[in-house]
Amino acid sequence: MHLQGIDTVVLEQRSREYVLGRIRAGVLEHGFADLMRTAQCGDRMDAEGEIHDGFFIAYNGTKRRVDLKKYSGGSSVVVYGQTELTRDLYEARVKLNGVVIHNAEDVKPHDITSKAPYLTYRKGDDIHRVDCEFIIGADGFHGVSRKSIPDDVLNEFERTYPFGWLGVLSRTKPVSPELIYARHERGFALCSLRSQVLSRYYIQVPLTDSVEDWSDEDFWTELKHRLPNDVADQLITGPSIEKSIAPLRSFVAEPMRYGNMFLAGDSAHIVPPTGARGLNSAASDIFYLYHAMMDYYKKGDEKGLEEYSGKALARVWKAQRFSWWMTMMLHRFPDQITYDGRLQDTELEYLFSSETALGSLAENYVGLPF
Ligand code: DHB
Repeated sequence: MHLQGIDTVVLEQRSREYVLGRIRAGVLEHGFADLMRTAQCGDRMDAEGEIHDGFFIAYNGTKRRVDLKKYSGGSSVVVYGQTELTRDLYEARVKLNGVVIHNAEDVKPHDITSKAPYLTYRKGDDIHRVDCEFIIGADGFHGVSRKSIPDDVLNEFERTYPFGWLGVLSRTKPVSPELIYARHERGFALCSLRSQVLSRYYIQVPLTDSVEDWSDEDFWTELKHRLPNDVADQLITGPSIEKSIAPLRSFVAEPMRYGNMFLAGDSAHIVPPTGARGLNSAASDIFYLYHAMMDYYKKGDEKGLEEYSGKALARVWKAQRFSWWMTMMLHRFPDQITYDGRLQDTELEYLFSSETALGSLAENYVGLPF
């Protein structure tokens, strides 16, 4: 938007160091990668990110490859960390003299349904005010934007899962050049990466566990248990440089527009991480909003803004469906009955016996069209 001459102000509750210290997702849909290029923020992603044409699913002691490129009709994904992507956006913003106000506390939207909404925030002891035409509520699940929509307007849909993911980042060569999603009776595991010298691994853990319960050694031992023997034998371990637990949640809030405020990303929807849709769903919201704003500012056409919520939600729900499906197929549920386990096996057997099923997985994983 800045490149198109539209003035924007970013209010960030945290410091830049805090934001850039968080380890988040790592897989970008090809359409999102294109959006980064459109924003002229894709150079480092293109230089340092890895193109992945496939990934593996491990179960019953072996691993099978999902050929994304073949089954999606030629698309692939880019493996590039969200943290790096955020760094690139910050740098671009600084270069353009764009405003980012850090440590903005008590942010509050006002007069959202009027033609002249404004925001207030506190910095230290001072209260500041920002007048604007539109507010983009891209302030996360706990943010103030969604909470500012009246109860009788907002509908929320939620599912929680009885486990979390314990993630470890380590400066080690990844066990596999492509990601491995593993289903195992001890629980799910994922071998991911940020580069060929930086690995990201996850294991499913009970919600009652905390990071302190897991020494590095315990983590590596448990991860190896859940991988096929040939993979476990090749796993290079090392000290963790980050370790955290994330609970799993599915959540959607409707509508995504209230007056002149537009929700985007986690403020309106959360997915469990399985299948890497979270960041990508946020990016698709931004794709729709960017084009809607362009139509409005360049042509006076409000159709994109009017259709934003419906369009964004249609795609959001498909990402919900895909993440829920991947999660249900690959995790061990504490109350699982033997029937459920056989059904998970059958889901995987069907997947790898059907080009149609592989096509469906691949088209969702590389990203449905905007
Ligand atoms: C990563 C996370 C995911 O949820 C996923 O499906 C793939 C990769 C990651 O953090 O690397």
